[in-house]
Amino acid sequence: MSTRVVLATRNAGKVAELRRILGDAVQLVGLDDVAPYDFGPETEPTFEANALAKAREAVLHTGLPAVADDSGLAVDAMNGMPGVLSARWAGRHGDDLANLELLLAQLEDVPDDRRQAGFVCAAAYALPDGRSEVVRGEMRGTLTRAPRGTGGFGYDPLLVPDGLTVTSAELPPAEKDAISHRGKAFRLLAPRLLDALGQVQRDG
Ligand code: IMP
Repeated sequence: MSTRVVLATRNAGKVAELRRILGDAVQLVGLDDVAPYDFGPETEPTFEANALAKAREAVLHTGLPAVADDSGLAVDAMNGMPGVLSARWAGRHGDDLANLELLLAQLEDVPDDRRQAGFVCAAAYALPDGRSEVVRGEMRGTLTRAPRGTGGFGYDPLLVPDGLTVTSAELPPAEKDAISHRGKAFRLLAPRLLDALGQVQRDG
């Protein structure tokens, strides 16, 4: 039987995406499949440190190898903010609409040629023996002046990925996965995790 690995997230979409990337080399489970524990607050100053902290916390509580990610939007004209504060930018964790509206208002006077930004994702694994690794994926693009599209979540309606003319909220999920910060980070992390677990990743 393959090794069980827990992905420290309650987001079913992330579990499904990582499962697609890892194939059947490991048995990936979400937090709903393990004994419940309190998710500590994300207090670290970087995406990498938050991802590692979440992975280590999951190992501590489950005894299983764990994967976690932390992500957000980094706006060039704001020196990388909202960054690790992306989820609570308007003051309340996870209020996507308020976050997006506040960001648009803050960027009102920023001209079109200085509206570059990137979604960033740090993905980490931690093992019960103490080993861990963290990688980063980015999806760069330009911010619109009004939301467009109904797909995705968070700031998706504001970012037109480089090379495209639609926002990431206008992309079908599989197309977003293929170029997204999270897809890139998970695809980088997967072979390293499997290597660390002493297993060989299957194609696909
Ligand atoms: P988390 O890493 O899932 O906690 O995401 C942190 C916050 O970053 C989210 O609440 C969103 O505001 C933003 N974010 C992260 N990834 C994306 C994305 O793919 N699209 C839009 N917003 C995102």
